[in-house]
Amino acid sequence: MKILSKNNDTVELLASPDEELLERGDYLIIEDENRKLLLQVIDIEYANLPGILEDTLRELSMEDAKSSSLIDPFSVGSLIAKLREVRLIISKFRGVLINGELRNDVLWLPSRFCSKIQKASPSLINELSKSNARRIIPLGECMGDWFTINAESIDGRLTIITGKKEMGKSHLAKLLVLGLVEYGARVLIFDVNGEYAGLSKRIDGFDYELSDRIIVLVPGQNFKVSIEDTGLKTMLDILRYVYDTPSASLREFSRIWYIVKKMYGKLTFKTLIEAIMKAPMNESVREALLSRLSSIEDLEFFDDDNQRSLEDLLNEFEDGSALIVDLSKSLPHGRRLVVEYILSKLTTILKNGLCPPLFLLAEEAHLYLRETYWDDLVTRMRHIGIFPIFVTNQPDMIPDSVYRQADNIFLFNFTNDSDLDYLAKASRVDAETVKRIVKALPPRRCLVIGKVVNDLPIVVKIRDLPVKTMGETKLFFTAREL
Ligand SMILES: Nc1ncnc2c1ncn2[C@@H]1O[C@H](COP(=O)(O)OP(=O)(O)OP(=O)(O)O)[C@@H](O)[C@H]1O
Ligand SMILES: [Mg+2]
Repeated sequence: MKILSKNNDTVELLASPDEELLERGDYLIIEDENRKLLLQVIDIEYANLPGILEDTLRELSMEDAKSSSLIDPFSVGSLIAKLREVRLIISKFRGVLINGELRNDVLWLPSRFCSKIQKASPSLINELSKSNARRIIPLGECMGDWFTINAESIDGRLTIITGKKEMGKSHLAKLLVLGLVEYGARVLIFDVNGEYAGLSKRIDGFDYELSDRIIVLVPGQNFKVSIEDTGLKTMLDILRYVYDTPSASLREFSRIWYIVKKMYGKLTFKTLIEAIMKAPMNESVREALLSRLSSIEDLEFFDDDNQRSLEDLLNEFEDGSALIVDLSKSLPHGRRLVVEYILSKLTTILKNGLCPPLFLLAEEAHLYLRETYWDDLVTRMRHIGIFPIFVTNQPDMIPDSVYRQADNIFLFNFTNDSDLDYLAKASRVDAETVKRIVKALPPRRCLVIGKVVNDLPIVVKIRDLPVKTMGETKLFFTAREL
């Protein structure tokens, strides 16, 4: 390989076709004297040589006359053939290595003719992509060797996992959850597909060693709350954001709430409905409130006799456990109501210091998260101790302000150009790297960007898990055969 040119951060190299096979995302080291340049390969093309069109046309027309012998008195044919086969490797400048430190601010270029170009060793990439930390999570394989990340690099950070359908996003999310739980973190999971419960079972069907630390809550079944514990503020948020209640009706609701509280001392769903039925008020307001409360009652999430408040649950929830809220059986309104309740309560609990910080894993959050929560989750909630991990296959459903503030992004394959444009605009790495690498990623491989890899983009083949991931698509024909 030889250096051809450098234009901004793009470095082009020339290579012969029989050189070592490269993959997108591989790192190269160009060594000259005792300095090294670090490059990342993003694509390969044919080198554009002068007169190549003419040569190819001549070759094409000669194919018909193959039988006639060629005259080559100086035997330069093979040399010319080799030149025509030269490849152009497009790579990105990632820094200069001086005394083991990777620097972007040093102005230095290696010699075009005397420098030595070779693949970087996986151990060097592992070393450069990590800061000193003790809690290691093995992620998978990179450049033929193990690649690990630090649990600390997700702590206090905003992480996004995105990619096309069935590329392995949820699998990676499960891997991160198990890694975090093993190191004693608490993880709250909004599980829309009901697939995280499998984390407690090994593939062979026996219990996984962390199974007693994985708690599954099904709203309306083993997770019910009382209206008193929910409080007026959360109830108003639910009525306003989930049920689009007009403000005049909300005012009436607050008035009735206080009256019932004064009369009975304690609130129940039943007394609240009775009071709304009897109290003098505009009939259309009464109708609006009663219809909404009856649809809330039908969800069976509020139960004043068999309640289990979030505070109690969080107290039972020890360090090193995952609390899975299974939203797969809930209707869309129910999902949004449960999430509204949890986030609203969680904010109060964390603000009052009643529970240590936790990670929040939300799959397809746009289905149940109201718009005002995005900014809250990204900015304010970090300070009170909620560290979100968003997983989605529709990247444009997450506001681009969230991408801009994301500390870590795990990108799986996308082929759709508009998705790629959206991501390229908002992520922490140059657009060309995202577009060329992500478009060609096979399933189970992802491009990792951000603090988790010290801002050195890395392509990782995600490892297997010992537990049931339950992410399979249910198939009609296989079910028949079974
Ligand atoms: N690294 C991996 N090793 C082994 N199996 C994997 C890996 N990644 C994904 N799988 C399997 O591939 C299937 C699809 O993966 P997964 O459910 O994670 O996809 P997804 O990107 O979340 O898809 P969707 O967008 O439909 O939710 C699952 O059965 C999962 O177990
Ligand atoms: Mg999934």
